[in-house]
Amino acid sequence: MVGEEYVSMIPAASSEVWNAVVNGQQKEVLAPSNAILLDVLRDKAGCLGVKRGCDMGTCGCCTVMIDGVPRLSCLTMAQDVAGKEITTVEGLADGAHLAPIQQCFGEYGGSQCGFCTPGFLIASQALLNENPNPSDSEIALAIEGNLCRCTGYQQIIESIQAAAAIHRGETEAASAASDAHPDPNPSGPDEPTMPPGHAR
Ligand code: FES
Ligand code: FES
Repeated sequence: MVGEEYVSMIPAASSEVWNAVVNGQQKEVLAPSNAILLDVLRDKAGCLGVKRGCDMGTCGCCTVMIDGVPRLSCLTMAQDVAGKEITTVEGLADGAHLAPIQQCFGEYGGSQCGFCTPGFLIASQALLNENPNPSDSEIALAIEGNLCRCTGYQQIIESIQAAAAIHRGETEAASAASDAHPDPNPSGPDEPTMPPGHAR
């Protein structure tokens, strides 16, 4: 209505400094005091690999490791985990090279559309960090909070078993072991080439 002053029923939360070690790097950002971790990671820390699926704790897409333990970032208050070590899917790779769990999801069909994959990768890596020789039922238990609408889960379990074998040193990293998919840039990607006429 013209001239009517809008008065919010819920006062806006004040912003506070939030800091944590995200993927090995110290992050310090301003965030609302009541922000959830999912929003802070995506909107403030630039970790877009953390996916928002259900936003209510049922799909596992938003899973991150907090001090090595998988947690749902959509159900975690950012301020409750300030100062902790947080690992998102971006933190799994070693520079330009995928982690074994990432390689194996690609090679064994553990990922199709990929939306659920970051959450599965984090839950799987957390399991392998604790248990490098999991049974299929232990894997099923570790990923029971992660939903996938594409793969049917069997390929996901096979991917995790293959990564576990690499962690145990029984097989080489998939890209090194397979002539079908050799790493085209074993020392990392080349510098991007500039279009003609663009001096560097
Ligand atoms: S977005 Fe967090 S569990 Fe679905
Ligand atoms: S790969 Fe599509 S939802 Fe899991």
